[in-house]
Amino acid sequence: MNDLEEKGYLDIKVDSNIDFIKEINELKKQKNAIILAHYYQTGDIQDIADFIGDSLQLSQKAADNNADIILFAGVHFMAETAKMLSPQKKVLVPDLKAGCSLADSIKAEDFIKFKANYPNHVVVSYVNTTAKIKALSDVVCTSSNAIKIVESFSKDQKIIFTPDKNLGNYINSQTGRNMVIWDGACHVHEQFSLEKIIELKKQNPEAKIIAHPECKKPILIMSDFIGSTAALLDYISKDSAEKFIVATESGIIHQMQKNCPDKIFIPAPPIDSTCGCNDCNFMKLNTLKKIYIALKYEQPEILLSDEIIKKAVIPIRRMLEISGK
Ligand code: 13P
Ligand code: SF4
Repeated sequence: MNDLEEKGYLDIKVDSNIDFIKEINELKKQKNAIILAHYYQTGDIQDIADFIGDSLQLSQKAADNNADIILFAGVHFMAETAKMLSPQKKVLVPDLKAGCSLADSIKAEDFIKFKANYPNHVVVSYVNTTAKIKALSDVVCTSSNAIKIVESFSKDQKIIFTPDKNLGNYINSQTGRNMVIWDGACHVHEQFSLEKIIELKKQNPEAKIIAHPECKKPILIMSDFIGSTAALLDYISKDSAEKFIVATESGIIHQMQKNCPDKIFIPAPPIDSTCGCNDCNFMKLNTLKKIYIALKYEQPEILLSDEIIKKAVIPIRRMLEISGK
């Protein structure tokens, strides 16, 4: 393991007075770079991004832009997806250690054995997977197009869904399918406390509960609206409610508050915390300082073999094609 792999980022001393926002903006211009950021990034990162989105929007943007360098402020699987869609571009990340517990919940060697038990099944994989799992899949989906992707198959088509059991069960409940589901989950979304949400709702009966489909079933059942990060943002802007209990990673609240400054957003509390919020520790590894260093030194970079890109990009492109229909 080299030094960069061990640390995950370039450990370079920078002047503490440096104006990261100014420097980042200059580096972007100089190098024809763009910053793509997920809604779970901290507010300061969302505010310097050229484009903010959910997983689907970010992959669409990664496939269609004129930059030479993409700085991906999100987690590893998202940057990998960007690299596969734009292999000729340099894709940088602020911190290689920004992984994903859900993507880690399925290993290619285990999935190969699992898949062998289900002949004649197609594999639909959530985008929160490694390139190796994507290469073993027929089509990828995100939380915003999962139902559309599954429904693009005929009713009698047998399907394996990986790796999120909560999203998989939710799709089954909405489509009447009986997909075989991998037993994976996201440690952030599994942490929301039903009891504490019920308590919050009692204290704020006028508030609407909105949830990401990675949440557990009891939370989804009591939610007024379920959707991807982009769908949740859209919902709070259009709905007449003034108060929302938000059951997804707390970074999204920055954008909700910007879009609707007069509305109130209460982060759904996790089971085991006193902070009252729910942060993805991987997403929150990224900082302005790391973005500045990554753009300046053009490292750490996402590198994938041509062989894996060739295989794994097929189900991603298939998703984009079905999604665009
Ligand atoms: P979205 O695709 O809804 O942005 O979700 C990504 C994610 O990682 C959820 O935990
Ligand atoms: Fe992965 Fe969960 Fe973090 Fe999303 S919130 S990136 S699914 S660990």
